[in-house]
Amino acid sequence: MRIGVLTGGGDCPGLNAVIRAVVRKGVGVQGHEFVGYRDGWRGPLENDHRPLGVPEVRGILPRGGTILGSSRTNPFAGDGGPEKIAANLEAAGVDGLIAIGGEDTLGAASKLHSEHGLNIIGVPKTIDNDLSATDYTFGFDTAVNVAMEAIDRLHTTADSHHRVLIAEVMGRHAGWIALHAGLAGGANAILIPEHEFDIDAVCELVGRRFASHFAPIIVVAEGANPIGGMPQPDNAKTDSFGHARLGGIGHWLEAEIERRTGKETRATVLGHVQRGGTPTAFDRVLATRFGLHAIDAVDQGRWGTMTALRGTDIELVQLTEATAELKTVPESLYAESEVFFG
Ligand code: F6P
Repeated sequence: MRIGVLTGGGDCPGLNAVIRAVVRKGVGVQGHEFVGYRDGWRGPLENDHRPLGVPEVRGILPRGGTILGSSRTNPFAGDGGPEKIAANLEAAGVDGLIAIGGEDTLGAASKLHSEHGLNIIGVPKTIDNDLSATDYTFGFDTAVNVAMEAIDRLHTTADSHHRVLIAEVMGRHAGWIALHAGLAGGANAILIPEHEFDIDAVCELVGRRFASHFAPIIVVAEGANPIGGMPQPDNAKTDSFGHARLGGIGHWLEAEIERRTGKETRATVLGHVQRGGTPTAFDRVLATRFGLHAIDAVDQGRWGTMTALRGTDIELVQLTEATAELKTVPESLYAESEVFFG
């Protein structure tokens, strides 16, 4: 068979490990041929691909990013996207696709399979860890470790200067990075999108922490909101899937906490540092196993499925099921962390 591979959406550490595993097993064991589509769904939409063989995947295991490039191109945004993709795959002699992506890339994959009959296997990736049907996505562990290290560093400088320091991390709909990095880094408050926060209560935690002669560290997910919501500018930019570009809650908190408590407060926005660079061992292994199971799924014709981690096993789940809803932080799990606040 001739198989196309693409990586879509926000990049994350481990994408290259999946590509490598797919190609190494697909060529070396199963005798398939591969093409790499460039920049997510833009590649098959515009018939932009390159050869992808064993030489192309040598040495890429520890490399962050994706050798195929990525984009947030939505194949359903314009006219006739699915038909163009089907025609381009046929012209390139491609029998099926492995789409490595998050909620948007795999949501499109699911529709392209179920409504347009395209042969697609999905592999879940995102630093946000918000895809249901899989216990973890690769990229998440690396992002959490980057954020944890930043929080460790913020503690020492906060204590020296008796300041409130805020770490804004990624996570627009789900607070997994904030929760895990905040717990691992000993944050004094963790604010997540699933749980609107009371700014008075946050200021109270700040006071309690200073009373113990240590400075407070607040970890906030970019999608977190105070009760009543944050005013969003009318001209907020959106991507082709309609998601607003977030960022701003850290600086909003900085101003509010300083105004209400009189304590010097500074925000650090970690941003894309969390997504770049080399993957952790956990992410390399998970990504590699996803790749091996994805090419097995191709070999067995299990189109319309996605690899998923369940416990320590990799299973195949229906793409429609996997993309039906986001996996958000349950209230009970958030409540566990509250014992360390203040
Ligand atoms: O989807 C992963 C993610 O890193 C989110 O956490 C974040 O909100 C978004 O991507 C940022 O996207 P972009 O890099 O396109 O601004």
